[in-house]
Amino acid sequence: MKICIFGAGYVGLVAAACFAESGNSVIAVDIDHARIEGLKQGVIPIYEPGLKEMILRNQAEGRLSFTVDMEEAVKASLVCFIAVGTPPGEDGSADLKYVLGVARDIGRAMNGFKIIVDKSTVPVGTADKVRAAVQEELAGRAVALEFDVVSNPEFLKEGAAIDDFMKPDRVVIGCDNVRTAEIMKELYDPFMRKQNRMIIMDIRSAEMTKYAANAMLATRISFMNQIAGLCERMGADVMAVREGIGSDSRIGYDFLFPGPGYGGSCFPKDVKALIRTAEESSYDFLLLKAVEEVNELQKEVLADKLIRLLGSPDEEQPLTGRIVACWGLSFKPRTDDMREAPAITIIERLLGAGATVRAHDPEAITEARKIFGDRIEYSSNQYDILDGADALAVITDWNEYRNPDFDRIKTALRSPTIVDGRNLYKPDRMVAGGFNYIPLGRCSGGICGEVK
Ligand SMILES: NC(=O)c1ccc[n+]([C@@H]2O[C@H](COP(=O)([O-])OP(=O)(O)OC[C@H]3O[C@@H](n4cnc5c(N)ncnc54)[C@H](O)[C@@H]3O)[C@@H](O)[C@H]2O)c1
Repeated sequence: MKICIFGAGYVGLVAAACFAESGNSVIAVDIDHARIEGLKQGVIPIYEPGLKEMILRNQAEGRLSFTVDMEEAVKASLVCFIAVGTPPGEDGSADLKYVLGVARDIGRAMNGFKIIVDKSTVPVGTADKVRAAVQEELAGRAVALEFDVVSNPEFLKEGAAIDDFMKPDRVVIGCDNVRTAEIMKELYDPFMRKQNRMIIMDIRSAEMTKYAANAMLATRISFMNQIAGLCERMGADVMAVREGIGSDSRIGYDFLFPGPGYGGSCFPKDVKALIRTAEESSYDFLLLKAVEEVNELQKEVLADKLIRLLGSPDEEQPLTGRIVACWGLSFKPRTDDMREAPAITIIERLLGAGATVRAHDPEAITEARKIFGDRIEYSSNQYDILDGADALAVITDWNEYRNPDFDRIKTALRSPTIVDGRNLYKPDRMVAGGFNYIPLGRCSGGICGEVK
């Protein structure tokens, strides 16, 4: 099938590579000329495991190409995917200017029947707006061409995006035309070989499904972060509680790890957008407002602990003269994405309190430099940043932090203090090893996550 994908970002590039991998002819379009030039030369603008190899292979085999020429891409394609950003506007609602801009581009360029697919995360009712924008452009050209608008929200996880796309838990298609639904089924069939996981529904329900999924996951995270806060104060161990509740098949184990708060390009903006959508319908989504508020507070927890541990309470900048080494900057492992990463709040708090901050991350240092510049020190070696530091803060759960050389850490740090925002280590072993170990929500092995 001939496909074009507008937006060569995380979603667009993964979708383009995976559709090409299953034999389709794919053109990826972006307005960012430098990005497209780079892609043509084999420079992949994001880090995502397996993506580079897949792009290079399909490019070499002639199934995947990159362009800034929208007209050429639309004319050559039956299915046009919209995978551009939907950042939050000032009031928290999803800003649809990029999506509707693409819809207009398609309307201006189309030369026959097209299927226009919203893959960006967009609020309920966006397909109607896309349809109206395309129709307006066609009317302006005084041509009558048929087209369908489909909602096909994307559920991939950064860090495991290729796997998620190739073997999806489900593919949701919102569609009101049987013929178009059949074409979408044909397109996704190669990813459904083991079992059919296509769910076809009306367009509005498909649009809502994406927000409901992210809102549910964000709710679990905030819920568990509050249980952790309470465990700390009540002498309980949140990791034992997680096992206790996760074993209930109605609850399950996923998304029940406490941490420094959710971040990334999706949960924060999608939670905000759903709250805003509800407000537009005069509906007060109380639960989600609390989820968001809890998350904002949670991003402060690690910095609070460090300031209470190391700070001089009488100083205006209580961490003056202190050095904090941070492991992990990206919002989660196996990505270089720093959008809304809790590390940003934590490090800004530490800097504001007068600390010197040093950071390591396996992939996100380039992105972090765009945010912090020279205000923090960076190293590509996770141990180098520990020399003479007053504490180590574990912010992101990259694999390389899970089983580190504790002797080396202890020798390098000025005082053997670890504030663990991901509960990676065993409290009793840490105590036995002579560490001042501060996890989240854990009171066990003679230590407690709470810092009074
Ligand atoms: N990143 C994720 O994990 C993820 C997962 C599921 C859904 N989503 C959703 O998918 C959408 C895209 O997210 P992303 O993370 O891939 O964004 P991104 O910011 O990585 O990429 C968006 C790309 O679109 C390009 N663009 C903007 N306007 C354009 C236009 N008119 N024509 C062509 N290209 C244009 C930008 O230059 C950029 O390269 C968002 O709605 C997001 O919520 C993201």
